[in-house]
Amino acid sequence: MEISILSLKKKNTLIASCPKGLEPALQSDIEALGFSIIKIAPRAVYFTTDEVGFYKAHLGLRTASSIKLVLKSFESNGTDELFARCEKIAWEKLLPKNVPVNTQVQVSKDFNPKEVFEVFKRGIETRFLVRSGATPVFGNKDNSIDIFVYQYNDQWTFSIDTTGKALHKRGYRVEGHPAPLKENLAAGLLRLGGYKGQKNLLDPMMGSGTAVIEAAMIQLRKAPLIHRKKGGFAFEAMPFFKNSVYRQAQDECRERKLSDLVFPIWGRDVHPDFVKGAKENALKARVEKHLDLNQLQFFESKKPSEHGLMFTNLPYDQRLKKKENFFECFSEHITKEYAGWDFAIYAYEDTFKAPQKAEALKVFDVPNGSLETKLWCFKL
Ligand SMILES: C[S@@+](CC[C@H](N)C(=O)[O-])C[C@H]1O[C@@H](n2cnc3c(N)ncnc32)[C@H](O)[C@@H]1O
Repeated sequence: MEISILSLKKKNTLIASCPKGLEPALQSDIEALGFSIIKIAPRAVYFTTDEVGFYKAHLGLRTASSIKLVLKSFESNGTDELFARCEKIAWEKLLPKNVPVNTQVQVSKDFNPKEVFEVFKRGIETRFLVRSGATPVFGNKDNSIDIFVYQYNDQWTFSIDTTGKALHKRGYRVEGHPAPLKENLAAGLLRLGGYKGQKNLLDPMMGSGTAVIEAAMIQLRKAPLIHRKKGGFAFEAMPFFKNSVYRQAQDECRERKLSDLVFPIWGRDVHPDFVKGAKENALKARVEKHLDLNQLQFFESKKPSEHGLMFTNLPYDQRLKKKENFFECFSEHITKEYAGWDFAIYAYEDTFKAPQKAEALKVFDVPNGSLETKLWCFKL
């Protein structure tokens, strides 16, 4: 049967990808939006949505890096069916004309990815030639459409990226901080650290303010991609796109948003330029009026309320470890001044050690790109 993709179905299978280690955070993100989980894989969660849910997922999934729409999933123990299955998909209708197609293949070591790519590519070309008399251009360019072939055991999946620009690019980041967290990484770490917007939150080393901005959006139930500009999602150029349904999804996201915080969010940094940058970012994210952002030397700080969650991403700089005993002083200071608080501390693996008094300690491996970083969660 031909797969035409001229409209979304009542039930669509989507794959949301996320940074390594954040799968549980992404899962709760997906569940919070009311979608049904199919399975959890490394760096990805499969789920289903209806048509409005498809758009809401793109606007609202905080931890996701990208979203793919599954075009076809089938069982086969070899590559024999690959060409025929590929050729049945109406690629000529799905892929915008003159836009390069970037095909990515992920298969087990039983298969040669280059061969799989060639068969798949031939399937698309043949389909295009027969139906439209032309063939698409293959290549990885800024504007290319990404399509994926994924094999696991006997299961093969074809999917297409419907996101375009990665979902961590919320659009509020102003240049200026040397080591900002990706926005979806910060949101996922907050969730892993137990933040659901129901406690006071302090980031005492906020840098560009990513975590406090994401926390404000979590507490306000603000969809993180609601301000993405027209044409910013790849799905807007796809044949199934319905502007009226997209608008309905946007309206429903806006209706969910709360007008005020209940639990305060404080952001501090020792560096005045970073505080200024964080304020600019918060303004662009349209959450500035909800945040209390100021300059403060952490080692002179006291807890701003009896209880709360301290989330922070400690500096990575190795010199701090060797020269200033920074990480030990940090642990001492929180033990002395922040009793009664919960902590979610994100740091390079051999810098930070949880204080001796830490209770209910959980450590999550969540690499930050190539950095071996962990999230230490505990109470004092
Ligand atoms: C890794 S960066 C945080 C980046 C941040 N998560 C973001 O997304 O932009 C660490 C921050 O700690 C701040 N910092 C270092 N020592 C500090 C201190 N003693 N008191 C307050 N802030 C400090 C630095 O200025 C830097 O902005």
